[in-house]
Amino acid sequence: MSDLARRAAAEAAAALAEDGMRLGLGTGRTMEMVLRALARRMREGGLRFTGVATSAATAARARALGIALEEADAPCDLALDGADEVERGSLRLIKGGGGALLREKIVAESARRFVVVAEAGKLVARLGAFALPVEVAAFGHAATARRVAALGGAPVLRLRDGEAVRTDNANLVLDCPGFAPIRDPYTLERSLRAIAGVVATGLFLLPVERALIGHADGRVEVLRP
Ligand code: A5P
Repeated sequence: MSDLARRAAAEAAAALAEDGMRLGLGTGRTMEMVLRALARRMREGGLRFTGVATSAATAARARALGIALEEADAPCDLALDGADEVERGSLRLIKGGGGALLREKIVAESARRFVVVAEAGKLVARLGAFALPVEVAAFGHAATARRVAALGGAPVLRLRDGEAVRTDNANLVLDCPGFAPIRDPYTLERSLRAIAGVVATGLFLLPVERALIGHADGRVEVLRP
């Protein structure tokens, strides 16, 4: 993974922001670079916009950079976000490596435009090598995990320092390596969402306007679905 690649994609993403826009601000290292590039455009170019943060971490970072934030109730003009995997051609995604999948999905789904920002290492022929994150209610999570296991997901409860990771919504995350390769993401999404304890999956099957893919030589490839 190259920082130069990420930074190139992040700069290209920040360049899409226009005066007066309401921007969906995704989560992760790439988005941190986008936030910094947006803040620079604010300082140096007088760009004015408001942001909708998809996580507490992004909200804190944005506030520290002087970016004004709003609630997620109105649709964003443009949502920008990273990804853990980007499927070549379809631009279907796996997200949630940072645990922000539910809020990211709410913001991306309601946005007028959704643009993905990633470095080339995230491009895959078929989704699934990145263990699919599934956000689940804490209540009865072991029962939920058994149902996810019955679908073949081989779920592993996400831990940090020996403790179950809580999302910003106080839920838990199951990382599911068992679905790889994901040949029919729509059926998988439906099957997972039919389990009562599943709150959101990291499968992003919504329309992506374009993916900005940064390369180690600083080039940015623009992919359309
Ligand atoms: C957060 O939950 C994820 O969906 C991130 O968008 C994804 O993990 C990409 O993060 P990086 O930009 O840090 O690789």
